[in-house]
Amino acid sequence: MSYQKRLLRAIPGGAHTYSRGYDQYPANAPEILERGKGAYVFDPSGKRYLDYGMALRAVIVGYAEEEIDDAAIRQIRSGNNLTRASVIELEAAELLVSLIDSAEMVKFTKNGSTSVSAAVKLSRAYTGRELVARCVEHPFFSYDDWFIGSTPITRGIPRETIANTKLFHYNDIASLQTLVEQYPQQIACVVLEPAATDEPREGFLHHVQDLCRAHGIVFVLDEMITGFRWHMKGAQHLYGVTPDLCTFGKAMANGFSVSCIAGRRDLMQLGSIEFEGQERVFLLSTTHGAEMSGLGAFVATMALMQREHVVEHLWDYGRSLVALMRRQAEAHGVSHSFVAGGVPCSPYYATLDERGATSLALRTLFSQEMLRAGVMMPWLALSYRHGDAELAATEQALDHALSVYRQALDQGVDKYLEGPVIKPVFRTHN
Ligand SMILES: Cc1ncc(COP(=O)(O)O)c(C=O)c1O
Repeated sequence: MSYQKRLLRAIPGGAHTYSRGYDQYPANAPEILERGKGAYVFDPSGKRYLDYGMALRAVIVGYAEEEIDDAAIRQIRSGNNLTRASVIELEAAELLVSLIDSAEMVKFTKNGSTSVSAAVKLSRAYTGRELVARCVEHPFFSYDDWFIGSTPITRGIPRETIANTKLFHYNDIASLQTLVEQYPQQIACVVLEPAATDEPREGFLHHVQDLCRAHGIVFVLDEMITGFRWHMKGAQHLYGVTPDLCTFGKAMANGFSVSCIAGRRDLMQLGSIEFEGQERVFLLSTTHGAEMSGLGAFVATMALMQREHVVEHLWDYGRSLVALMRRQAEAHGVSHSFVAGGVPCSPYYATLDERGATSLALRTLFSQEMLRAGVMMPWLALSYRHGDAELAATEQALDHALSVYRQALDQGVDKYLEGPVIKPVFRTHN
């Protein structure tokens, strides 16, 4: 039986993240992976792929990074999870607070969803309000109902929960202003990423901050992707804003499971225990939240990133990659259909049909031909281990993939596809 069949038989969706599902990859993608090293992943037969998926952006330095793994292993050998708070837990918390300007306190947990949902809960407790305003253009904040209820996949979610989340647009302050006017004194928090494919224009984030301050709304920035990638002090530092609460995760421990909610002391302290008479908020209480291996990896990741100027590397590599993609698209006469851009430390590529709309068929074809050339490129996640050799290998793969892409534009994409077209994660039916 194939790995795919076995995976689907044992695990709903065949993976633990929908974006890892078989419906997100072309037919020639490896069904399963065995290990990773640096910027490469290997399937069980030993076949190697240059990886631009980087574990959904959880790995920012490189796979199996010795210095970081050794720090994690030291904590494993010290017991990995003790009966009271551990020394590494205190060290990690003080480090996070020292790095992030707006963070006066921090609470760790294992997954990003848990952190962002905790920010929503804390905001509701602080304001006594129930509505959440979340940015439409940002694709994911949490697997919890307050967020998933605002996507097309609402099965199993109570109607009141769906109604409590309202939507506004990125770089469109009027859309948030409208919500604030429509629901006076009802919005607990505004949740958005500081930037994704687009950066803030015309002081957008400052306007969000001002609007929140003026109306008693908690300003939540989800830095799951931007944190320690845009800047070691977060994108909030780069753009000069101060959220009330912010969340980090993904690459903060180079693949180990660490995430956190951080922010203003008066908000975070609602989850504390030492203020007599204060009504309590049950804020994140998890058995594994402060697992020592992950926190050891976080401290070591931060040290390595600072010493090796990893963030600068990501910006430089991204600039070169986007320039390379544009050159190749130009050379193959497909630059109207294959587009690269975005924030240099986190670029994107898009495949467009003749009307300029996203074409998943062309995306599948591009992905398929990059895989044929040994490059797994579901999106563009960069790491410190993407260097000159990897850029050169990417150039060769692009040359191949975009020549097939050109032929497909001329003769029809279906003729070149080996299997089904990839599907959007957020669709109502399979
Ligand atoms: C911006 C953002 N927030 C939250 C999450 C959820 O993080 P996790 O998958 O660790 O629960 C993600 C994951 O894709 C994300 O991209």
